[in-house]
Amino acid sequence: MTNPTPLLVFAGSMRAQSFNRKLATAAAEIGREAGAAVTHIELADFDVPLYNADLEAQGTPRDVVRLKEIFHAHPAWIVCSPEYNGSYTGLMKNTIDWVSSPIKGDPVWSSGTKPFAGKVVGLLAASPGALGGLRSLGHLAPLLMNLQCWVSPRQFALAKAGEAFTPEGQLTAEPARENVRAVVDQVLWAARRFQG
Ligand code: FNR
Repeated sequence: MTNPTPLLVFAGSMRAQSFNRKLATAAAEIGREAGAAVTHIELADFDVPLYNADLEAQGTPRDVVRLKEIFHAHPAWIVCSPEYNGSYTGLMKNTIDWVSSPIKGDPVWSSGTKPFAGKVVGLLAASPGALGGLRSLGHLAPLLMNLQCWVSPRQFALAKAGEAFTPEGQLTAEPARENVRAVVDQVLWAARRFQG
């Protein structure tokens, strides 16, 4: 039997009742069912300030290094991206900016793309709107490709997210679960092949 593929799951929201955090929980569960070794992180658990190069010059925050380590350790990712003004959130961009910023003179992290290069990334979104946050994915994909990620062609945007979850946070509709599963399966399929 092959080793389980390490799958990283996170959402670009810190909101307590975030639909994207709920969708990330559903994707993590589906990933475990598919046999992946899932790491589901909450960005709220990382103390990451707004990016400022002057602050960075005083030393990269410890939690940014932790995120670099976590991103790098996972060949497969599922990213749940909320949509603000037709794009991804400031939290998402700030996180990616910090994690992609090289640590000058550091023997491990002197390459900014190191935590991203070669990762297979599946994109999900959830929004109360009719498009489900699809436009945020259209912006996030080229950003990640620029960092040398392989963005999986299968994506899913969950529309009318306010009606899509039970009070316990489970997806109510089987077609929605199937769409999430299709993204997770494609990411794991590709990541396994890339690992050789
Ligand atoms: C939004 N929202 C939103 N939704 C959408 O489908 N398209 C959009 O362009 C926007 N724009 C937008 C801008 C700003 C500033 C906010 C605060 C919100 C609504 C957004 O999808 C909704 O708040 C989601 O609930 C956010 O995701 P989480 O936090 O539930 O994961």
